[in-house]
Amino acid sequence: MNIKKVGVLGCGLMGSGIAQASATAGYTTIARDVGEPVLEKGRSGILKSMGRLVEKGKLAAGDRDAATARLSFSTRVADLKDCDIIIEAVTEDLELKNRLWQELDAICPAHTIFASNTSSLTIAAMAAATKRADRFVGLHFFNPVPLMPLVEVVRTVTTSPETFDRAYAFAKSLGKEAVTANDNPGFIVNLLLVPFLLDAARALERGIATTADLDRAMQLGCGHPMGPLTLMDYIGLDTVVKIADIMFDAYREPRYSAPPLLQRMVIAGFHGRKNGRGFYDYSVDPAVPSELGLGGKR
Ligand code: 3HC
Repeated sequence: MNIKKVGVLGCGLMGSGIAQASATAGYTTIARDVGEPVLEKGRSGILKSMGRLVEKGKLAAGDRDAATARLSFSTRVADLKDCDIIIEAVTEDLELKNRLWQELDAICPAHTIFASNTSSLTIAAMAAATKRADRFVGLHFFNPVPLMPLVEVVRTVTTSPETFDRAYAFAKSLGKEAVTANDNPGFIVNLLLVPFLLDAARALERGIATTADLDRAMQLGCGHPMGPLTLMDYIGLDTVVKIADIMFDAYREPRYSAPPLLQRMVIAGFHGRKNGRGFYDYSVDPAVPSELGLGGKR
């Protein structure tokens, strides 16, 4: 069965980006989140992002308008019941995800594929909570979704070859490059990226270099588009800690443990760019390194 309608669970940074990519690729798309304010934030983020792409000549104004018309928003899970594929991008909480999957499993037709955008949980732990473990995959996107060309397509033990092929083709139809990964926490990218990001926080904590120099070193020395501390602010420090905790739980290796500095920052409400405070202070333009109680201005 061809995919015509796409459901997206969660309208935060990742969910809204996925909904944008889906609607732009021609799919009727519905994004669901718990309340109007978060849906409104997602909607305005999508319009802003599309506006930037139109300005840069990367998206025709007519295609933007058509994509916007294909996109709707809802607070009701039941409104996703006639979707051919549902992509979940809610917070990294297995119980929450599985409650949503079970609700949808009861009302969606048999052909509907369930796909999780989880960063670090195993797909098997969600598939097993449904009666469609053979029609369950991982589709892991990268932030910012409209610009990052990669999707990891993740096969778990129960994923049928047909489901995997449909999900892979769907990822390609969004204009993305797809890679195949087996179902291990972190897949390919986060398996390698998360220890690197955590090590950058450890280096700052140990006073090896300042925030700005750590970032500059990796940008200019290794050609990274963003330094690791800026990238953590971009992903969200609360999200980085959640991913690290899940990966540490799974692997029990110190390189996946969130360093105390990062944990303290999250406790103090430093969530990164999304709330204006992280390794950098975004209340001023350009952002400046935050004073993090490390003894002296970083
Ligand atoms: N939508 C549309 N356009 C956007 C955009 C968005 N959301 N964000 C930025 N842009 C545009 C800008 O308008 C600009 O356009 P121009 O080059 O034509 O002027 C262009 O993109 C570049 O933006 P900036 O000048 O603001 O910044 P950069 O040159 O640094 O590029 C970036 C931004 C593409 C985000 C680049 O810095 C980058 O690739 N950073 C690394 C991102 C990354 O590693 N992401 C993966 C995170 S890990 C993850 O997501 C997994 C999860 O599980 C944790």
